[in-house]
Amino acid sequence: MIYSRITGTGGYLPEKVLTNKDLEKFVDTTDEWIVERTGIRQRHVAETQSACDLAEIAARRALEMAGKAPEDVDLIVLGTSTPDLVFPSTASLLQGRLGIKNGGAAFDVQAACSGFVFALSVADKFVKSGVSKCALVVGAETMTRLMDWNDRGTCVLFGDGAGAVLLEASEEAGILSTHLHTDGAYEHLLNVAGGISRNSEALLEGRAFLQMKGNEVFRMAVNTLGRIVDETLDANQMSKSDVDWLVPHQANIRIIQATAKKLDMPMERVVVTVADQGNTSAASIPLALDTAVRDGRIQRGEVLLLEAFGGGFTWGSALVKF
Ligand code: UT7
Repeated sequence: MIYSRITGTGGYLPEKVLTNKDLEKFVDTTDEWIVERTGIRQRHVAETQSACDLAEIAARRALEMAGKAPEDVDLIVLGTSTPDLVFPSTASLLQGRLGIKNGGAAFDVQAACSGFVFALSVADKFVKSGVSKCALVVGAETMTRLMDWNDRGTCVLFGDGAGAVLLEASEEAGILSTHLHTDGAYEHLLNVAGGISRNSEALLEGRAFLQMKGNEVFRMAVNTLGRIVDETLDANQMSKSDVDWLVPHQANIRIIQATAKKLDMPMERVVVTVADQGNTSAASIPLALDTAVRDGRIQRGEVLLLEAFGGGFTWGSALVKF
């Protein structure tokens, strides 16, 4: 049996920081409201950098931790909703940037905030089937480019960043299982209603903004994430106490707390980055993972539960022996 194991993690946040106090100056909000309702205190903003720029730094850091060179990589799967271009894919651009010659496949996965979990699941299947031996899995986003800075219901929530993991074929257990779901009936609750073959004028006129009915999304997210925790543990015949760390998508501290409660998990065992980073969509899980690996909280052999919920609706989880 071949498994895929995470052998390196990397993350990158752009330099510019936008605090809640900064937001107070141009949108009708307060630091108190944002902290109390979301847990967010600041977010990072990529001023001139693209998603690929952020991804390259995160990917190089993951490769360095694993002791691998770019030419060892035979697959890149990258989750993003804010690609550099319509095409080539951001994964293709990243492959070129890393200088990989005659590499394997590189492609993007679009599953909004669940993009990293979807990308990880796809790459895991390539590794388990013997097609890939060394896969780079990335979540990279420039969400602030999609903000309507007059909409206080959304513009205070999102930030930019990238995270990456290197997955290698191994005889030792690594990714234990992944679980992906989509329910396409909820476009009206969370979308960017401008694209290429529909509403292209919104894109061309610079009004293709992220729109969300936050309250309804919140309720769906809490219920759905509660269910996927059970599904993941049942599939592995594990109990709540077998999980060492919860590494959740970082949309709102109250959603994270609800999922932790469902797992009977104290908040000390939950990796939380939302205060400093806001919601970085597909980048949030690999950024959180990288933070807790590098500061020594997450140790080899521990069991991690990764979970996400986002536009689509999409949701998913991964159970990982690190
Ligand atoms: O990652 C993808 C998935 N996304 C999510 O999971 C996000 C899910 N949703 C949320 O995190 C929360 O619903 C929000 C943080 C977006 C909103 O929190 P809420 O507690 O659900 O607030 P609400 O939308 O019910 O709004 C309550 C009040 C409203 O005022 P009224 O109508 O009661 O007078 C809003 O207009 O808060 C107001 N409000 C704000 N006030 C100050 C909304 N945004 C702001 C703001 N500052 N930034």
